Amino acid sequence: MNSDDNPISNDPFALIDPQLWLITSASQNRRSGLIATFVTKASIVPDCPRFVIGLARQHETCRLLEESGTCVLHLFSQEKCEWVEKFGVPSGAKIDKFAQIDIQTLKTGAPVLSDAICAFDCQVERNWETGDRILFLLQVVESKMLNPGTPLRFTEMWNTASTELCQKLSFLLVRDQQIDRQAIMKWREASE
Ligand SMILES: Cc1cc2nc3c(=O)[nH]c(=O)nc-3n(C[C@H](O)[C@H](O)[C@H](O)COP(=O)(O)O)c2cc1C
Repeated sequence: MNSDDNPISNDPFALIDPQLWLITSASQNRRSGLIATFVTKASIVPDCPRFVIGLARQHETCRLLEESGTCVLHLFSQEKCEWVEKFGVPSGAKIDKFAQIDIQTLKTGAPVLSDAICAFDCQVERNWETGDRILFLLQVVESKMLNPGTPLRFTEMWNTASTELCQKLSFLLVRDQQIDRQAIMKWREASE
């Protein structure tokens, strides 16, 4: 096929294949977790580990993180791909996503999923409003290897997910894009 005929090859964003993270947080007697791709290691200093994450304000996990100032970042393998549907589709505002999931805690007390590959227990150092996302700078207060495995990336998840799940995720993506577009425009107008 001529590369001009392939629409994917003309889209530089299609080259980005992020790892899927599961971020959990809890406050008072509430807890939730979500799937995120906006997670970046933000320090090269071994004794000052940091991450930056971007969460949309409408998500329950974001509200809990703002309230508690703590969260846990997890990497997980293809064997736990059911977590994408469990944590990345519904809102934890109305349901408990942790039913039948083995939980432990580290220093902050935020929920740690025992079947993940690893967990980074974090405290918020600072946050910034950017319109569609709140960016949180996180200090890692404890990190732990939990199980062997290769972290799941978006493309692997997408290529192995059921047609039904891909349809659900596509629907939610379009919905969230509309919410985010409006939030970005509003923020830009207010910043001018
Ligand atoms: C592949 C994938 C990547 C996602 N990345 C992010 C992200 O980086 N930031 C974010 O706020 N939401 C992201 N989401 C959306 C949340 O995971 C999803 O809306 C979740 O159901 C929110 O749950 P909560 O309301 O219980 O917090 C992503 C979802 C999927 C499926």
